[in-house]
Amino acid sequence: MLTKIENLSEYFLAYEKSIANPETFWERVANQFFWRKKWDRVVDYDFEKAEVKWFENAKLNITENMLERHLYTIGDKPAIIWEPNDPKEAGITLTYQQLFEKVCEFSNVLLNNGVKKGDRVIIYMPMIPEAAIAMMACARVGAVHSVVFAGFSSSALADRIINCEAKVVLTSDGNFRGAKSIPVKAVVDEALEKCTTIEKVIVVERTKTEVTMQAGRDLWWHEETAKAEKTHKAEVMDSEDMLFILYTSGSTGQPKGVVHTTGGYMVYTQFSFQNVFQYNSDDVYWCTADVGWITGHSYIVYGPLLAGATTVMFEGVPTYPDAGRFWEIIDKYQVNQFYTAPTAIRALQAYGLDPVLPYKLDSLKVLGSVGEPINEEAWHWYHDHIGKGKCPIVDTWWQTETGGIMISPLAGLTPTKPAYATLPLPGIRPVIVDAEGNELKGNGVEGNLCINFPWPSMIRTTYGDHQRCIDTYFSTYKGMYFTGDGVRRDEDGYYRIMGRVDDVINVSGHRMGTAEVENAINEHPLVVESAVVGYPHDIKGQGIYAYVICDAEGRTEGSLKEEIKATVNKIIGPIAKPDKIQLVTGLPKTRSGKIMRRILRKVAENDTSSLGDTSTLLNPEVVEEIIKGAQ
Ligand code: WTA
Repeated sequence: MLTKIENLSEYFLAYEKSIANPETFWERVANQFFWRKKWDRVVDYDFEKAEVKWFENAKLNITENMLERHLYTIGDKPAIIWEPNDPKEAGITLTYQQLFEKVCEFSNVLLNNGVKKGDRVIIYMPMIPEAAIAMMACARVGAVHSVVFAGFSSSALADRIINCEAKVVLTSDGNFRGAKSIPVKAVVDEALEKCTTIEKVIVVERTKTEVTMQAGRDLWWHEETAKAEKTHKAEVMDSEDMLFILYTSGSTGQPKGVVHTTGGYMVYTQFSFQNVFQYNSDDVYWCTADVGWITGHSYIVYGPLLAGATTVMFEGVPTYPDAGRFWEIIDKYQVNQFYTAPTAIRALQAYGLDPVLPYKLDSLKVLGSVGEPINEEAWHWYHDHIGKGKCPIVDTWWQTETGGIMISPLAGLTPTKPAYATLPLPGIRPVIVDAEGNELKGNGVEGNLCINFPWPSMIRTTYGDHQRCIDTYFSTYKGMYFTGDGVRRDEDGYYRIMGRVDDVINVSGHRMGTAEVENAINEHPLVVESAVVGYPHDIKGQGIYAYVICDAEGRTEGSLKEEIKATVNKIIGPIAKPDKIQLVTGLPKTRSGKIMRRILRKVAENDTSSLGDTSTLLNPEVVEEIIKGAQ
């Protein structure tokens, strides 16, 4: 198995080596993969221009490393274990050999439908094995996939299709979520009314919901695969060829398409997967994320399959048919490593211990957390009741842009501390800076988190707009990648992530830009202006609080609020619906017209004791009104 760190002193040694001589360190890791041609240079970068290259001029196909590389040794080992939404329906297990055949077959379907190297393919699908097969088939033929979370609305989907000028959409008829069956193809149809670049839509039959198939454009997955050849030779890709685009929210404007490339992403996702989770060859690993997010990309599909792991994929929700579903699945498949989000832990914690008690959970060795800071209460509940006090918790800090886990304990090796992501992985150089960009050295410091040296799986550009990549990540602090997170390094040198320092909020572990939600609210014809902030929410971590100026026009307050929520639902999707809406007559502004979000945040947090001096505002009187009307 690939470079695996086995004890704490080995970690410190590996870390030291990776800093002293990054090229030698990563070359050693990379040498264990299958390359069609090796690199001329390990790394080359210029952060001022946001230019980063890893394994320059090397040639490979990432799927040969996920599939062919394993066939002789572990061809019969389960690669994907799929658990359906309904526990009464039979699951599916695909061995590496079977997965290989399915990926080859679907690669031929893509080719038969005109997909060429470099073309963009949208994947808008539920959590079914075809989603993973689709991702790998794209990578195999050299097409760039962009997975769009199936909970996004048709308009959010259309924006993404238009931004990356996609040629094909891969989707399903519908999606089973708990007791509901949600239309999926119908959402695609609506999105495509606004798009001109899509030539083909390939539809998996999952829910047997009735769908309209447009002749010449829409095709059934099973009919296409039935016609396709079963063997396929992988396209040879350059290490820096685009592997995928994944849209994520920032503090301004439309979501940006974060671009990841092939070689570096491959090396880092496998390396981080094996080391953080301490995966052993017979283990069963389960990450509960959706493939629509980066966690699903790196730690359901790419990292685990590169490592030859058995990865569980779950279609449903944690509370269906009851709040014991996660625990039932852990026992059913004897899951050894379980990786989920704090929001799910808090939601399940709210049901008490009854749903947990019927299950043994004795296969568990490692628990993981991702997506948002984990509060101490949830940490202890997870540790005591799920891990039975014997499983280390890996609190993994990373981002869509980082591609892989950056700061995290290595399971069982790094001593943990509740709510601390602890220490950086080898090769990762975190730097804490103050507002002026001065580095805060030593321990016991708090500031903004930057990374001052490239790592293999880092963002390469924002699709179609490189300047945006420079401006967002590399301009705030010269010569450094700025994460947007605040961080504290304690007396032991351990890192604790304090949350976003920009206008990005983290709702149930999903990133939302406040500007994005405001834009959606403003689409309602009666809305004059709005301001959105996050506030602490028991289950979601952060909730969405919207202050809205409206022209009421005969509506009651209640109906207006419902209409606003429906507008946001239509424009972005249910995850962006405000939890609280307060109708106001004005928003506190500075004399230059800038909304004072700090005040709005304080009111939303129900902390009005420290609003500071409001007398310099353009309209100090609205502050009183806002406090009085707070929800
Ligand atoms: C937050 C998810 C605290 C952070 C992989 C980051 C976390 C944003 C943690 C990225 C953690 C992620 N502790 N905060 N362990 N993990 N975050 O792009 O604010 O969806 O910037 O990637 O989530 O969210 P994204």
